[in-house]
Amino acid sequence: MTNDAWLAMAPPQTDDPLIPSPLHPIRHPLLDAYGVKLWCKRDDLIHPTLSGNKWRKLKYHLLQARKEGKDHLLSFGGAYSNHIHALAAAGHRAGLSTTGIIRGEAGTVSNSTLSAAREWGMTLHFVDRQSYRRRQDPEWLAQFEAPHTLIVPEGGSSPLAVPGVAELVAEVPFSPDLWVLPCASGGTLAGLVAGKRETEQILAIAVLKGGAFIHDEVCRLYPQAASTTGWRIALDHHDGGYARFSQAMWQWVQSFSAETGLPLEPIYSGKAMWGLFRELAAGRIPPGSEIVFIHTGGLQGLAGLREQGRI
Ligand SMILES: Cc1ncc(COP(=O)(O)O)c(C=O)c1O
Repeated sequence: MTNDAWLAMAPPQTDDPLIPSPLHPIRHPLLDAYGVKLWCKRDDLIHPTLSGNKWRKLKYHLLQARKEGKDHLLSFGGAYSNHIHALAAAGHRAGLSTTGIIRGEAGTVSNSTLSAAREWGMTLHFVDRQSYRRRQDPEWLAQFEAPHTLIVPEGGSSPLAVPGVAELVAEVPFSPDLWVLPCASGGTLAGLVAGKRETEQILAIAVLKGGAFIHDEVCRLYPQAASTTGWRIALDHHDGGYARFSQAMWQWVQSFSAETGLPLEPIYSGKAMWGLFRELAAGRIPPGSEIVFIHTGGLQGLAGLREQGRI
């Protein structure tokens, strides 16, 4: 499917996506010290509200909805979910109604992520943790479905996420030695494994604790990943677990942003950049490497972290 076909889903808008997303060289004294070159694939700049890996992962979900005549998208997430935020924006843009099943109590959760989703017309249902665990149970889900509903898995990670992410590889005009990206549910990594050239390596930084399951998840989403070499998931840069981070890490990320001009947040992009530099410091990346870091977006999450007084 061409980008033109994807764009044709919505009437022409002044906020059309920036595809290919820019590729920015990153300069930092440590990179010279380690003898490597770094570029950032700025997927965060694709679109003001529907950016990063969300744009890539949702593209073929929306095309599928159109193909099947579905006019309603249903998905799941936490109260600060980048995915919920993006899905609401995507539905609004493509003229599809959206429902978000949110883990949390309605009265206790009011924040900028959910306010934006509501403004884009998303219907929100708040469920407790126990109910949220039933999100893959069709009987439980039936209560939220409208007649023509496409269910998008949490984080947008389904096999439909794979081709959209794979397309970003061809946007980079050279073949890097190494791709680096954050990973959680594995959809973005699966897409990159599908798209990468044979000689290219991938280092995925797990942003959560106990990320060993992600390997199997990638193989479930993209079965050929099991026989594809050159990709690995680093499990020891989670810095306490999902959405947790130390002040030391956040300080590092802020200094890095100040020195390079690259905006980062501590949950995905900042943690992954920090993880990359820990890998460099540990000598796990050969000098001379040309590295492309994928900025998967998520900067909307900074507002929520500020609201919670965490940054
Ligand atoms: C901004 C951002 N980056 C990276 C990820 C991780 O991507 P994935 O869940 O596909 O592994 C997410 C979560 O989906 C995210 O919101």
